[in-house]
Order: sequence, then structure tokens, then C-alpha cells
Amino acid sequence: MKFFVDTADVEEIRDLAATGLVDGITTNPSLVAKSGRKFADVIAEICSIVPGPVSAEVTATDYDTMLKEGRFLRGIADNVAVKVPLTRDGLKACRTLTSEDTMVNVTLCFSPAQAILAAKAGATFLSPFVGRLDDIGQEGMELIGDICEIFANYDSFGTEVLVASTRHPMHVVDAARMGADIVTVPPAVLRKMYDHPLTEKGLKAFLDDWAKTGQSIL
Ligand code: E4P
Repeated sequence: MKFFVDTADVEEIRDLAATGLVDGITTNPSLVAKSGRKFADVIAEICSIVPGPVSAEVTATDYDTMLKEGRFLRGIADNVAVKVPLTRDGLKACRTLTSEDTMVNVTLCFSPAQAILAAKAGATFLSPFVGRLDDIGQEGMELIGDICEIFANYDSFGTEVLVASTRHPMHVVDAARMGADIVTVPPAVLRKMYDHPLTEKGLKAFLDDWAKTGQSIL
């Protein structure tokens, strides 16, 4: 399972990339707006920190302009994955961009039917949003189960399932259980995954006992 981090905050990215656990980055227009920086600059900087795929989303909604924006974004760095929304024009742009050897992340997926279309359009990554489904009283992870089951039936579907809109570590655990290829997590969720009270308690007990020996390893 690959871990992407869902942020456009370069300081967070630098910090988390140093752990060696970060395989890629996802951004979206809201995250870029939050960074307060120029889009192209922030994407270029992220791409220089993380060698894996860095998703940068188009903001046009028509095919022709999406294509222009996608080609511009792809020109920023080799590891840019152009993000397009799961619309008719978005999937058409996906097909064209992937035929030009550009990685494409199809985003805002909320149903298995949409997921099938994205795979048929040759998406490199498909981003189903689990947290936003949970928010409206549906089981976001059920969508992941459905998509993983469907994609497993077809070797010709080369699309990786990128579980997005994750809100807590159990989304990650459930995604791993279902065999999803990738999860993208906000920095806070990745940090929470380290935590367990018994780890803290156990470490404290070991260190207290060790201190009583008066020894040091080095
Ligand atoms: C993924 O690529 C999206 O940027 C992200 O996961 C959306 O998450 P949210 O629903 O918490 O905004």
C-alpha cells in the first residue's frame, strides 16, 4: 500500500517526507488556496521534495481548457499527475492526457459506476472520497470495497484506487484490508497513526527500568 499526503503545505511535506513513508502528494484547489501561494510555484516546490506523483488539479470545466491547463501543469515537473474531476469533459481530458503519457488522477468519485468510467478512460489513479460520503450519512468505505471488488475482475483496468478524503486512521486500516492501492491522508491523520497509549506507557516503563541499571548502550 502506498501513502500519499493530502496537503499543499511544503513545510508539512518536508517534515513528513523525512520519515521515508511518503510515496506521493495530492493537492486540490482548496488546499492550494489555503497555502496562499502561487499554484505553479507550490507544485514545483512539492515536486522537488517528493519524487513520487504529485497531483495538481485543473480548474477549468470544459475539455479544451482542461487539456490546456493539464498540459501546462504537466510541464512543471515529470512527476505531476494532472487531476481532473469525474465529469464527461474530465474523463475525455483524462483519455487524451494519458495517451500523451501524462499521469491522471480522476477525482471526486462517489459511486462504483463513476469508478468504472474512470478506469475505462484510462485513469492512472481514481480518487473516491470516503469522508465526504460519511459526512452525508453513507458508508464511504463501502464504496472502496465495491470498487476494489470490481477492479479485481478486470486485469485490463490499470487504474490504482487512491482512497481520498480520509479523516482518521481507521479509514487507512479499512482501505488496507480491502486491498486499495493508495491512501492519501492529511498530515494530522498520518501523525495519529503512530500513536497508541500502550506504546507510550510501555516505553516509559522500559526507560524507567533501564535508568535503574545505571548503564548506557554507547
Ligand atoms: C484528495 O485528493 C482530496 O484532495 C482530499 O482527500 C479531499 O479531502 P476532504 O474531503 O477532507 O476535503
